[in-house]
Amino acid sequence: MSAPLLGGALDDASVVVCCGSGGVGKTTTAAVLGLEAARAGRRAVVVTIDPARRLADALGLPGGLADTPTRVELPDVSGELWAMMLDTSAMFESVVRANAGSDEQADRIVENRFYQNIAGTLSGTQEYMASEALHQLHDDPRFDLVVVDTPPSRNALDFLEAPGVLARFLEHRAFRLLMLPARGGLRVLNTAAQPILRAIGKVVGSDVLADAVAFFQAFSGMEVGFRERAEDVMAVLHSPDTRFVLVASPRRDTVTEAVWFADQLVEQGLEVAAAVVNRAHPRFGTGDAAQAADEASRCAADGQAAVAALWANVAELRLVAEREHAELGPLVERLGDAPLLEVPLLDGDVHDLASLAEIGSHLTGPG
Ligand SMILES: Nc1ncnc2c1ncn2[C@@H]1O[C@H](COP(=O)(O)OP(=O)(O)OP(=O)(O)O)[C@@H](O)[C@H]1O
Ligand SMILES: [Mg+2]
Repeated sequence: MSAPLLGGALDDASVVVCCGSGGVGKTTTAAVLGLEAARAGRRAVVVTIDPARRLADALGLPGGLADTPTRVELPDVSGELWAMMLDTSAMFESVVRANAGSDEQADRIVENRFYQNIAGTLSGTQEYMASEALHQLHDDPRFDLVVVDTPPSRNALDFLEAPGVLARFLEHRAFRLLMLPARGGLRVLNTAAQPILRAIGKVVGSDVLADAVAFFQAFSGMEVGFRERAEDVMAVLHSPDTRFVLVASPRRDTVTEAVWFADQLVEQGLEVAAAVVNRAHPRFGTGDAAQAADEASRCAADGQAAVAALWANVAELRLVAEREHAELGPLVERLGDAPLLEVPLLDGDVHDLASLAEIGSHLTGPG
């Protein structure tokens, strides 16, 4: 039996959300947690967002990650690891199709130029679609653990509020006006909407506006479905079986962001189950920097110049690790009893199963 993952913080979890600011290692951590869960006998699926190509290679998926779950071949592993890459536009379309009253309504939306422009780029769409993927996979009987990677953000609300964005949008008074059935296009649109439309049209141009109006009109009747869906996703996010893992790096700015992120989760009635501090400088040997500096002086006094230089290096490296450690103070304090695990900076990129497993070995300690 291997040591518990993240100090046992993920025991009984059915959903794990990896969050944190840009570039800290969220995608890597998500892959590692999926891998470790599979090694512990679980059937895990990892939804990644825009992973480095090397991650797909590392998972032995040279064709890249598909937008549907693909089984990762793991020799001698009792559980299962599946991985998929979120395709925001494809997911958006599947959400539209699932909610539309008819194929014709769905076609009208996805063929709309405004839709085609916003589907991949509208702020919050990626978060929204990640939460949709979470919802779909959570209900999928093939998996008993869903690990979700999130887009880079220093704001927890980007992800937590995403499910309701479209529902709120569609229920907004201005859009309700736009969605009123129009017979002759813009000209005969409800008169109450005309001043708003003229104002928007001046900014974005009337062609864009016509597309946008047609887009929102095409949604007519789907508001309730979207709202219910958003409520379902929120229920999953707030379930006790869902755990948030905060990924950070040992630098003052990212630690500050991580603490702020944790505060926001708490404000939403959620909590951080564990934190991963990635790319920490490894500690060399057991002593501290001061001891290594003493050794360096002693060796220098003994005339052992080369050994003295090596000790001086060790002292410097330990000092870096100690300073990093000091930066973690506010995060440790914020976490309370939740475990914090440090992952060292690896020699190279995470490019194969061995390097994923190496990171995993640092996440299966006591914390
Ligand atoms: N401990 C580590 N040692 C060395 N390289 C690492 C380590 N952790 C992650 N990396 C590498 O750093 C890069 C960024 O990691 P990753 O993609 O997981 O970050 P991210 O938080 O998902 O980024 P983004 O916010 O852009 O989505 C990747 O190339 C990954 O292989
Ligand atoms: Mg990422």
